Amino acid sequence: MRQTILALTLALSGTAAQAADIVMHRSAGCGCCLKWVEKMVEAGHEVDVVNEADLMAFKAKHGVPMGLASCHTSLVGGYVVEGHVPAADIERLLAEKPEAVGLFVPGMPMGSPGMEHGDHVQPYNVLLLKADGTYEIWASHG
Ligand code: CU
Ligand code: CU
Repeated sequence: MRQTILALTLALSGTAAQAADIVMHRSAGCGCCLKWVEKMVEAGHEVDVVNEADLMAFKAKHGVPMGLASCHTSLVGGYVVEGHVPAADIERLLAEKPEAVGLFVPGMPMGSPGMEHGDHVQPYNVLLLKADGTYEIWASHG
């Protein structure tokens, strides 16, 4: 099942609908994924949401190492974006286009986009994963 968030703006503008730039895959019923989508939409992205019956199989197919997994997996401009990655880090990825699998925020750190919990922020890193399985820190937050 696929639903387009914020398709309304496109419908009202009367122009042909563009494909979403972020396609997010999740398990139905997980709420923080949709909160992350809200943050991406606020940052100006259009996001498609796909509910996966077998999210683990989807992650495996797209090269998400189990140790770096979070609750949702997005496909963005040929990259994998795993978990609660801030929009600015994704935009830098698309601008710089490094040779890589994509960006990963393992787990679900408090204070990352979609995981706000008052003022509580748990420091976390956004990792750039390479095809050879190594990764480097793309950005640090908190
Ligand atoms: Cu989450
Ligand atoms: Cu979630």
